[in-house]
Order: sequence, then C-alpha cells, then structure tokens
Amino acid sequence: MLNLIEKYKDQAKMLNKTIVMPEGEEPRIIKAAAICAKEKLAKIILLGDKKIAQQKCPDVDLSEVTYINPLNSDKHGSYAKYLYELRKAKGMTEEEADKLMKDVMWYGVMMVKQGEADGMVGGAIHSTGDMLRPALQIIKTAPGISTVSGFFIMNHPSREENSLYLFADCAVSPDPSAEQLCDIAIASHQSAKVFLGVEPKVALLSFSTMGSAKHDLVTKVQQAAQMVKEKAPDLAIDGELQVDAALSPEVAALKAKDSKVAGFANVLIFPELNAGNIGYKLVQRLGGFDAYGPICQGFAKPVNDLSRGCNVGDIIGTVALTCIQASIK
Ligand code: ACO
Repeated sequence: MLNLIEKYKDQAKMLNKTIVMPEGEEPRIIKAAAICAKEKLAKIILLGDKKIAQQKCPDVDLSEVTYINPLNSDKHGSYAKYLYELRKAKGMTEEEADKLMKDVMWYGVMMVKQGEADGMVGGAIHSTGDMLRPALQIIKTAPGISTVSGFFIMNHPSREENSLYLFADCAVSPDPSAEQLCDIAIASHQSAKVFLGVEPKVALLSFSTMGSAKHDLVTKVQQAAQMVKEKAPDLAIDGELQVDAALSPEVAALKAKDSKVAGFANVLIFPELNAGNIGYKLVQRLGGFDAYGPICQGFAKPVNDLSRGCNVGDIIGTVALTCIQASIK
C-alpha cells in the first residue's frame, strides 16, 4: 500500500489544491497538516485557535499552514446567512445557522462550498455522522448522482496478481434502494478508473447469480443492474452476481458465462452496509489485504472522513486522495 499512497502523494503535489482540515487543535491533524504543507502536497487551512495548537504541539512548525478561527472570522456572518438561505425551507432558523457556523465542521464544509478550499478532510475526533451531515446538507451530490457512498481501496501488499480492488458502499448508506445501488455502482466505476489505474469491472453483489435465487433482496440488485444498463450502457457493470462468480473465472464460466464482468470483477458493490462493512473487514483481517478508506464519492466537491483511530500517515494519504478527487472533472 505504501507505494500506492506514495503514488497518490506524487500526483497530489502536481495539483496545487487547497484542503481545509477543521480539527485544527487535534495533535495528529496538526502534525499531518505541517507535513503536507512542508512537502507541498497541498495548501492547508486549519480551523481553530493557532495558539492552542502551538501549545499542544510546540515542536511543530506551523509557519506554512493558514489558521482560521470560525469564532472570530469575518466571514462568519455571510456564511451563516448563506446557510440559513440554503436550509430555511427545511426548517433551519437564523439562530441555528449562526450557531452551526461557529462549529468547525460546518464552517469547513461551507469553505469548500464557497470555493475557499477544494476539499475537506476531518473526522479524527468526530463521528461519521457529524462529519457527513454538514456536507450532505451544504455541498450535496454531484450532477447526475443522488447518493453519497464510501469506498475502500483494497490492496494486497505481496500478491503479484489480483491484488487491487475497490469495495463500496462500506461506510455511508445503511440500506440503499435499487436507484442508490445504481448510483453507487456508477460512481465506483469512476473512482476505480481514477484510483486503481485499471479498466474497472464492476459487480453488483448478491446471494444469487443471474436469477439463481428469488427474493426481494435479489430483486433489488437485479433492478439496480437494469438501471445501470439504461443509464450507463457502455460501462462494464453487471449483476446480480455472487462474489465467487464475480471473482473466479471458473465459477463465472458455470454461472454467468454471458457476463462481461463475471470472473474478472475488480470493483465490488455490496447490497447494503452490513455486507459492505463486514466484507471489507473480513478481506482485511483474514485475507491480508490493506484497506485504505473510507473515501467518500458522490459529493459535488470532495469531503473525506477519517477513522477516529487514524494516524498521521493515514491523514496525509487522505489529503492526497482528496486533492486527486478535487481534480476530477
Ligand atoms: N447520499 C445523498 N444524500 C443523503 C444520503 C446519502 N447517502 N444520506 C442522507 N442524505 C441526505 C438526506 O436526504 C438529507 O437531505 P435534505 O435534508 O437536503 O433533504 C441530508 O442528506 C441530511 O440528512 P440527515 O437526515 O440530516 O442525515 P441522516 O440522518 O440521513 O444521516 C448519515 C446521514 C449520517 C450518512 C447516516 O446515514 C449514517 O449515519 N450512516 C452510517 C454512517 C456510519 O456509521 N458508517 C460506518 C462508519 S465505519 C466506517 O466507515 C468504516
């Protein structure tokens, strides 16, 4: 995985993007931000109080990092007004908008929305929900996509072949509808193209292969596959497939011989979040793969959620991936 992340970092350095990191008083974030800025991976804006940050990390050179404190920012008023206008139809009051814009997570997302930053990386000390909710409400989804999802890049550190996969959704939508699965499959195809560097072959997974079982859960995946065929007929996306039919050419020859994906899938779309989350962790823990993510896809501008157990290296890697996402047209 190291080489893969180094590759993403090299790519990010060419892009000159600006990333806001709202948890600017958290030591792991402070250290990662200083390294990113020093190595010119990205321009970094940290939110919070620079004095507090410097007290927490006295040995870190913060001279190349910009600090903004939402509590005394001159943009606070206009951001709060914008948020109120955006959300008043959903019941938000001016007081609520004013209060939310003092919260670093909401302020950071608003900076991305307003073009002050190209992307945001946070979540080292916030839950996934607290991280994603402002982005879902303010940044919203990319044109043509109505579902945000989270993928993992799965990489086996020592295998020569069959070592690189993308798994989704492993992080966001607990029980996606057929329409949402279709969205997740199409967004994952694009993400795989960018991050795996190979031609994506996307399998919509189920406990059934091409009608071998009948159940509402199977029907949902079949409907998603049909929607993909109508919406994006040229993409190599197929289903419903059991995971062995998706991955093994021998099983595919028996169960899905007409599929252009079966046997050679490198992108796996799980039918719901239990399966996705359990699936990537099984492959990681029992299969020896490194799991990198979750990386969010489907937002109009990139926002990425860190694991609360992340280390400085994980944060730097996520900044690099976010810069690359910000450059996707
Ligand atoms: N894609 C696009 N829009 C969405 C999505 C989605 N997946 N989910 C919610 N929205 C929209 C809603 O429709 C709503 O829109 P509107 O208010 O403009 O009409 C807006 O986002 C805000 O929705 P909320 O109701 O405030 O948020 P919600 O309660 O639906 O929560 C959340 C969204 C936080 C993503 C929730 O689904 C969640 O907690 N998911 C699971 C996250 C999780 O725990 N993941 C595991 C983490 S572990 C790991 O990642 C490895």
